[in-house]
Amino acid sequence: HALRPLHTFALPSRCHQLITLTHWQQLLEIDFTKPFCLLGQGSNTIFVDDFEGSVLHVAFKGIEINEHQSHWRIKVAAGESWHDLVIKLLDKGIAGLENLALIPGTVGAAPVQNIGAYGVELAQFVDHIEGFDIQTQQLMTLSAEQCQFGYRDSIFKHALKARFVITQVCLRLTKQWQPELSYGPLQSLKNDNPTAQQVCQAVVKIRQSKLPDPHVLANAGSFFKNPIVSHKHAVKLKQSFADIPVYAVDQQQQKLAAGWLIEQTGLKGYRVGDISVYQKQALVLVNHGNGCAEDLLAVIKHIQGQVWRQFAVCLEHEVRLIGRHNEIHIQGAVS
Ligand code: EPU
Repeated sequence: HALRPLHTFALPSRCHQLITLTHWQQLLEIDFTKPFCLLGQGSNTIFVDDFEGSVLHVAFKGIEINEHQSHWRIKVAAGESWHDLVIKLLDKGIAGLENLALIPGTVGAAPVQNIGAYGVELAQFVDHIEGFDIQTQQLMTLSAEQCQFGYRDSIFKHALKARFVITQVCLRLTKQWQPELSYGPLQSLKNDNPTAQQVCQAVVKIRQSKLPDPHVLANAGSFFKNPIVSHKHAVKLKQSFADIPVYAVDQQQQKLAAGWLIEQTGLKGYRVGDISVYQKQALVLVNHGNGCAEDLLAVIKHIQGQVWRQFAVCLEHEVRLIGRHNEIHIQGAVS
């Protein structure tokens, strides 16, 4: 089965079998001892080889909204589109998710990498997650705390990796809504007392100006995680590069902007074959149409190598790369 139309980076890979999941009971019939890969809208997954296993396309549907005195509880099936959910809720006067507008992908994929943008993260709204435990073959509920959310991270990338199929995401949105306008370009809205709809429109405008629409130019969003380094390392970098953006994580650690690091190495627009570093946002890699896995891997390694040489910082790719049998991780040549 062709995988090109099933992932937004659109490499010409194939898989052995494609199964569309619309009811959780289908999971009882699947032989999980053979290679498998869970896929939503494929906006954060790239198939860098033909996958010799089954791709399980998560297509559970349904949104349940329950009003309580101080908050809303929203139970959403994993196959719903994230952006459509954000818009649907805003249309009903339910605010909170507006900073996360236009993030591609499904609701079920959102907790895996704890999607975040413009000062907001999904984790803030998660009440609990429901899903199917492949090991016990049973449905299971995880509290937000049990999900171990971190920056682009959760238990679904670690202990429950390849062990859990998210079926429902349950959110809790307070009625005491406050806009989150701390992100640079949103600060100008502060004096206007904006509605959630207006914040949403501003977010959509910023994203459209910086991030390519995957329907127009194939991409998978931010390609690398913003690296977290020791406070000491950040101070040292600041001495050599006065305008380096640095964000506090905690007392010991600071987060750097990977896009800035890549741009400094002069790699904006760097191209191998049909794969390049996006001109307007160096953290995004794009496929101009006929890109292949070999060229993508060459671009990843080159970027990692250059950033390491100039800043002694390891860039870890945030996008999931799926190889012939399983997920792979590319670690640049560190010397
Ligand atoms: N920058 C450059 N050159 C570039 C790109 C960025 O100098 O080519 C600088 C910017 O000027 C800014 C800093 O780097 O000072 C950060 O850039 P930006 O605000 O565009 O955000 P980002 O760190 O590149 C992160 C998320 C995005 C999210 C935005 C907004 C990650 C990996 N990426 O990007 O999330 O939308 O912040 O909150 O954390 C995604 O995960 O797919 C994604 C798009």
